[in-house]
Amino acid sequence: ENKTLPFEAIGEGTLHRLVDAFYRRVGMHPDLAPIFPDDLTETARKQKQFLTQYLGGPPLYTNEHGHPMLRARHQPFEITPTRAKAWISCMSEAMDEVGLESSVREDFFARLYLTAQHMINTPDTET
Ligand code: HEM
Repeated sequence: ENKTLPFEAIGEGTLHRLVDAFYRRVGMHPDLAPIFPDDLTETARKQKQFLTQYLGGPPLYTNEHGHPMLRARHQPFEITPTRAKAWISCMSEAMDEVGLESSVREDFFARLYLTAQHMINTPDTET
């Protein structure tokens, strides 16, 4: 029995277009842009590596950077519920843009949603 990996179902080309479409939105988002570097080239490169292995493809991220330890790597940044929501909405729009559909999208999105919740390390401040 041979289960198709999500990485294979989505394909490298679409995954790379998704990450580029995502960071274009991140770079313009008022809640996200302030905590990201101005030049998102390297961030996008690492995210392509990470999502490749997250979806069952080759371990590109770990080979270059070691264990992801995602929550620890996000610790220097204030990840609030508002920012997690913004991250997820940029991703949803990017999935629309590249035409990612059906169960592949739903499963991938559901996992990203949970991972984003797990990154939250700071409460929203009341204003
Ligand atoms: C890096 C923010 C969720 C994966 C980063 C960086 C920021 C950030 C500011 C540093 C960028 C840089 O210096 O290049 C956020 C926010 C999130 C979020 C606000 C909202 C919840 C996620 C999720 C994933 C993820 C859900 C994975 C599914 C990564 C990866 C890196 C990264 C792989 C690169 C780590 C490295 O430097 O090696 N994120 N992130 N992030 N993020 Fe997130």
